Amino acid sequence: MSFDGKVAIVTGGASGIGEATAKLLAAKGAHVLIADVTDAAGARVVGEIEAAGGSARFRHVDVSRPGDAHEMVADAVATWGGLHYAANVAGIGQVPSRLHDMEEGTWDLIMNIDLKGMWRCMAAEIEQFLTTGGGAIVNVASGAGMRATVGQPAYGIAKAGVIQMTRQGALEYAKDGIRVNSVAPGLIDTPAVKALPDDVRAMYAAGQPGGRLGEPEEIAATIAWLLSEEASFVSGLNHLTDGGWFQMSPA
Ligand SMILES: NC(=O)c1ccc[n+]([C@@H]2O[C@H](COP(=O)([O-])OP(=O)(O)OC[C@H]3O[C@@H](n4cnc5c(N)ncnc54)[C@H](O)[C@@H]3O)[C@@H](O)[C@H]2O)c1
Repeated sequence: MSFDGKVAIVTGGASGIGEATAKLLAAKGAHVLIADVTDAAGARVVGEIEAAGGSARFRHVDVSRPGDAHEMVADAVATWGGLHYAANVAGIGQVPSRLHDMEEGTWDLIMNIDLKGMWRCMAAEIEQFLTTGGGAIVNVASGAGMRATVGQPAYGIAKAGVIQMTRQGALEYAKDGIRVNSVAPGLIDTPAVKALPDDVRAMYAAGQPGGRLGEPEEIAATIAWLLSEEASFVSGLNHLTDGGWFQMSPA
């Protein structure tokens, strides 16, 4: 799998799954634009990629702000002369609540970042790909977008929307040489999960079919494969990467 000389955007690339994706794509030869709201973490990731011999650049991008996605794409094109791949990873979880008593503000925040933010990025990336004959996109959804989970109704609904938006993109732009897929991670040991008390993390791990959480690098590997030429006839797929979690019967 090679991304030699190609240009990739990774939203949410300053942490967790996005960070692992940015590092993997850079290690495989891509120039990577890390688009995120956390400037210091983004600069750290760029530094680590460069120290490993890769090519990366950070841009402050808030996917909830109209306009930022177009500027993000313009930045990648101006810096490296084109755009070939995009991993739309940026997203947030929600304050646990039930469907009926969720604050309107919670609904709006989650939808604006996790669903509409992803659409803003996809739209800007597709607009660019249409000028050059194609490209590939991977959106990060969630197993929580595939079945109901307790406490995160808006998040699950937004992620279900991401899966449907992926299918829509795959169908609409197949003739334009654009592939669009999504990845649905299970529970992954990213910084927010690592920050939990050891006994809580252990409880989460014990609840997984394989007795462990996933690693960000294991999601990055799926994202990279779906972006790569090795998946040249794969489009519209929502690829579970969850260690079998989705096959479990709810307790
Ligand atoms: N960790 C898991 O278990 C898990 C499971 C399923 C899906 N996911 C999804 O994977 C993606 C990455 O999650 P993670 O666990 O690596 O989280 P994370 O918090 O480690 O990384 C998310 C990144 O997105 C950035 N971000 C947040 N809001 C943004 C905005 N408005 N504009 C630009 N960047 C923004 C954050 O600054 C952060 O760097 C998310 O979409 C999440 O919903 C995670």
